[in-house]
Amino acid sequence: MTLMLDERQRAMLAEMGVKVWLPRAPGATKSVAIEVDRASAEAQAPVARAAPAPARPPAAAPAAAALGPRPEGVESMDWPALEAAVAGCRACGLCATRTQTVFGAGSRAADWMVVGEAPGDNEDRQGQPFVGQAGKLLDNMLAAIGLSRQASAGSAQGVEKQGVYIANVLKCRPPGNRNPQPDEVAQCEPYLRRQVALVQPRIILAMGRFAVQSLLQTTEPIGRLRGRVHQYQGVPVIVTYHPAYLLRALSEKAKAWQDLCLAMKVAHGPA
Ligand code: URA
Repeated sequence: MTLMLDERQRAMLAEMGVKVWLPRAPGATKSVAIEVDRASAEAQAPVARAAPAPARPPAAAPAAAALGPRPEGVESMDWPALEAAVAGCRACGLCATRTQTVFGAGSRAADWMVVGEAPGDNEDRQGQPFVGQAGKLLDNMLAAIGLSRQASAGSAQGVEKQGVYIANVLKCRPPGNRNPQPDEVAQCEPYLRRQVALVQPRIILAMGRFAVQSLLQTTEPIGRLRGRVHQYQGVPVIVTYHPAYLLRALSEKAKAWQDLCLAMKVAHGPA
């Protein structure tokens, strides 16, 4: 697959640690064509959540959660109703420990949708998905393929970017960054389903084990699911590693780049 990248995108790839063969296109000045080796072996690497952040001072024990049913009719809600339903959700125990819900961010008319796992400490405090270190890497990965969570954002170089919508499987932070529990995923699943239905993306990038398990209803490891096109509600899904994992497993970044290239090809056709 051949891809035209400008200087800024190449710098972002360098920051991602992705080394690709860069033949200079005949007569090219700023852009070069890169050949992405998509034939290399797939990883079987296990995916784990980032190590918990240094402990915060112990908070007072939360009052017993007053749980309540998820609001009815999620499957037909519009954006404002859905956002309000999530903000007020008390369907699982995470409502007792969250600072706030983290609904999603980006363009609601985007061709691309990224699905992550769950808010962490930073996201819980800011109410936005992927705002910590993993989020910075995610933004760089997206920028490398011309996408931004700021819809139609222009870069310093005046390069127009396409919007992307970013959401998580869970809308509330699991305390101590523990793994999501099956009942929490089950309670939150209709919200994500409705977000996908409202955005109607051309492609979903499922990042990490819990996004993959939730969307594809499988327990197969990511290494065996990469490199193929899956489906969720009729939308093509590409499986890739979670940015938090890539921060620790630098050698896997090249595979994530391959996954992005595959997603580009599926979403927009061969370059
Ligand atoms: N990890 C995720 O999966 N989602 C976030 O929003 C932040 C970190």
